[in-house]
Amino acid sequence: MSGESAAAPAGRFYLTTPIYYVNDKPHIGHAYTSLAADVLARWKRLEGRDVFFLTGTDEHGQKVEKAAADAGMEPQAFTDRVSGSFRDLAVRMGFSNDDFIRTTEERHKRACAALWERLKAAGDIYLGHYEGWYAVRDEAFYGPDELIEKDGIKLAPTGAPVEWVREPSWFFRLSAWEERLLRFYEEHPDFIAPTTRRNEVLAFVRSGLQDLSISRTSFRWGVPVPGDPEHVMYVWLDALTNYITAVGYPDEGDPLWRFWPADIHFVGKDILRFHAIYWPAFLMAAGIETPRRIFAHGWWTNEGQKISKSLGNVIDPLALIDEFGLDPVRFFLLREVPFGNDGDFSRRALIGRLNSELANDLGNLANRVLSLIQRNLDGRLPAAEAPTEADQQLLGPADALPAGVAEALDRQAYHEALERVWQVVRLGNSWIDGQKPWSLKKTDPVRMAAVLRSLHQALRVLATVLQPFMPATMAAMLDQLGVEAGERSLAALAVPLPEGRALPPPAPLFRKIEDAA
Ligand code: MSP
Repeated sequence: MSGESAAAPAGRFYLTTPIYYVNDKPHIGHAYTSLAADVLARWKRLEGRDVFFLTGTDEHGQKVEKAAADAGMEPQAFTDRVSGSFRDLAVRMGFSNDDFIRTTEERHKRACAALWERLKAAGDIYLGHYEGWYAVRDEAFYGPDELIEKDGIKLAPTGAPVEWVREPSWFFRLSAWEERLLRFYEEHPDFIAPTTRRNEVLAFVRSGLQDLSISRTSFRWGVPVPGDPEHVMYVWLDALTNYITAVGYPDEGDPLWRFWPADIHFVGKDILRFHAIYWPAFLMAAGIETPRRIFAHGWWTNEGQKISKSLGNVIDPLALIDEFGLDPVRFFLLREVPFGNDGDFSRRALIGRLNSELANDLGNLANRVLSLIQRNLDGRLPAAEAPTEADQQLLGPADALPAGVAEALDRQAYHEALERVWQVVRLGNSWIDGQKPWSLKKTDPVRMAAVLRSLHQALRVLATVLQPFMPATMAAMLDQLGVEAGERSLAALAVPLPEGRALPPPAPLFRKIEDAA
């Protein structure tokens, strides 16, 4: 287990999503990476950490230039428009990002130029000539031995078409970093997660690294190379730099610079190589600290099929939110598939989980307890008495839950965190059935009050730890539980709510979805 966890000091916490290409509108894959980052950002804030959460858009390069031309627009006007749709997605998904960076901003061009100068001064950059294969869709160079052939056409291993490129180019001496990278991975066993992905990266680096072309001359849409404006920077060097631009680079006196190095970069498995090989090599060469961890998640398929525009099965996150509500969608995406694995999106699985786990398990438990307090105790919270052995069966696991969730989230094991939460939800349901508070009203009203108080305490823990996953619904649940705004952090759980607090009348938190489709 220790090999999977990120050791970070208490205090500041910096996390990022990939910056998204603005060649097309956002889909479920984009929403997914940012959602995982958002939940961790919110969790770290609940822990009381000083958090900086960054997302944004990747706006330069041939792919975006081409998309703009296809739309009959100037690249800047085009990127303004598409970048806006990613900003809207962040709002609609409830993301709590502290900044939204665009690589066409001046601050970013300045950071790219400064990083370039540092690499050049360090002697890691030289001018040469590139001749080889390039996939615009991936914005990546490929060696001839990496290509596959389909129907007589050469393709990148990702399936992207490749073209032969021949042009003057600046190079980064990546080949000189092979040994140092391998040593770095060994000294930082948590740098790449999950472990299977780490092994793939190690094998790739061991097989030998070529110098990397880091400028292009056959098109114009990019950051000009300092001192050589015929060249624009390779879009991945430009894009990766966003992570330091946003915290003030090159101004290391900027108050935000305290956030560097990043605690975690979230990426999809397809872009791990850029983050786990090129990025630390650039940073080490420039004498800048390396990030602590890169987590590569898997890919979603749709009802068993690869998601692609040509198949017409792209999942629109906004349509899902409209149909099912934001929080149920957020819950499902992180509950259904172990983070790191590929997963299949199916309506049946979505509706099944929402009905059984949200509406039945959690929703009914909350509703039963709150209705009993309303009806039998005049809507007032009873006193917290010393727990009996029976109460301990519920309160022991409930009180231990925050630590269990924290441990899972520090490994980015969202599905495990949620499974731990649902163990307590299910325990709550079986415990209330065993204690039967409804039949204690006449026989032992004192015990009834104590039972309801224990259930209330368990619900408070559940709603508190679930806030990062379902912010709006858990805010409503905490309102119904009478937990005030200043009482919703993890630390606040140690302080019992005062006896007699008035609770508002309960209302259902989740709706059941009737759908046979
Ligand atoms: N611009 C680069 C990242 C630069 S970061 C310095 C890029 N952009 S992207 O828009 O193409 O993809 C962004 C993310 O979406 C990637 O992490 C990718 O893995 C993710 N996804 C794209 N399709 C996906 C699925 N079908 N499923 C899950 N995530 C997927 O790459």
